[in-house]
Amino acid sequence: MAVDLLLGLQWGDEGKGKIVDVLTSKYDIIARFQGGPNAGHTLVFNDKKYVLHTIPSGIFHDNKINLIGNGVVIDPVILNKEIEKIKNEVSNISKSLFISRKAHLILPTHRLLDAASEKSKGKNKIGSTLKGIGPTYMDKTGRNGFRIGDLENDNWQNKYKELSKKHQQLISFYNVELNFCLAELENEFFEAIKELRKIKFVDSEDFLFKYQEENKSILAEGAQGSLLDIDFGTYPFVTSSNTTAAGACTGLGVSPNSIKDVFGIFKAYTTRVGSGPFPTELFDNYGERMSKVGQEFGATTGRPRRCGWLDLVALKYACRINGVTKLMMMKTDVLSGFDKILVCTKYKYKGEIINNLPYDLSDETLEPIYEEFKGWSENLRNLRNSDMLPENLNNYINFLEKKLNIPIVIVSVGPDRKETLFR
Ligand code: GDP
Ligand code: IMO
Ligand code: MG
Repeated sequence: MAVDLLLGLQWGDEGKGKIVDVLTSKYDIIARFQGGPNAGHTLVFNDKKYVLHTIPSGIFHDNKINLIGNGVVIDPVILNKEIEKIKNEVSNISKSLFISRKAHLILPTHRLLDAASEKSKGKNKIGSTLKGIGPTYMDKTGRNGFRIGDLENDNWQNKYKELSKKHQQLISFYNVELNFCLAELENEFFEAIKELRKIKFVDSEDFLFKYQEENKSILAEGAQGSLLDIDFGTYPFVTSSNTTAAGACTGLGVSPNSIKDVFGIFKAYTTRVGSGPFPTELFDNYGERMSKVGQEFGATTGRPRRCGWLDLVALKYACRINGVTKLMMMKTDVLSGFDKILVCTKYKYKGEIINNLPYDLSDETLEPIYEEFKGWSENLRNLRNSDMLPENLNNYINFLEKKLNIPIVIVSVGPDRKETLFR
């Protein structure tokens, strides 16, 4: 049975959590394949809102398997808090949640290293979520990491101490002022490890292979977005994992030829949180309106998200890299009441018109070129059928589908599960 992927095509926060939750009923297994608690995936149903950071977004459905894959980095303290928050809603978490032995642990000193690195960069900082993501992946690729499976070894505390000591030396190397009490952070960490041990650790590649042989269906849930990919994103203003489709193969151990559908999610406009180039960013009333109506504040850090028009050049790039087969357009309701909608279809760059992403998106000569569409005034939140969409919105959707040559199969018109229109 095939594996389907669902991933963000922009700079994250496209609404992945919501759609994974909506699609979960069609799958047996939901698996996160990369990233860590830098992610904040929001689900809204029965008038309640939940934000997941590490746990896959299928967790609220009965009789499903939720797997945290080997490509994910896990902070036990954050995972523990997440479990606490949802345990009244999820009857038997130890039966539905599994963790790969090969996933790496975020230690308290990884978080401190993240903070020291960012502080030392001053105004050139990445705008990291400060969850220790970069330093943990550095230890992984540097072959120094601490894996979940190491906790099954009696000597794990020695390994922890060794790595933590090295981190403390590195932190002092940065020579920046950080206020922290390591003993307190460690107490919290060791307590959380006790809780973590209550979850089943598995050899997840074998685990998934076995389920595939049994014809079970798998949905791989991406975190972050394609433009934050360590290779293809707006480097160095990116995260430290492959957020694009290939990351699902390495982050779960599923083979490329087992992948069927690649669902690409994008907002009807664009947002970005953290630093880095954003060609279509708005600093006017339109941007303010997106921010206000869309309540554009980070689900993990609460920081305001920068807002701008849809960038089709970037979206096309992301669709190609991921091999997107179906598109889903999110937050369409936010654009209701705009007198006009702009879409960037080309860039002007060094005096030429281009329709690809140049090496350095932050080049000052890069200028978006827009096409303009008529807005619509109708409130979309009560619509339950895509046949009812206003004509001007249909024109916008048809234009995007034609330009990208991929069908838009979902139009999302609100944060709630119910506010999802299938086409
Ligand atoms: P994720 O990281 O991709 O899962 O997205 P986030 O949860 O970080 O951010 C998406 C935000 O938009 C959350 O607050 C969602 O509840 C909300 N949201 C999702 N879809 C829609 C939609 O169609 N309309 C509106 N207004 N909000 C939405
Ligand atoms: P979800 O899964 C939006 C951004 C940070 C920063 C950069 C690097 O909710 O879409 P990191 O903490 O990884 O070192 O930060 O990446 N970032 C995200 N932005 N959504 C996310 O996840 C993000 N995860 C990281 O803001 O610019
Ligand atoms: Mg998010």
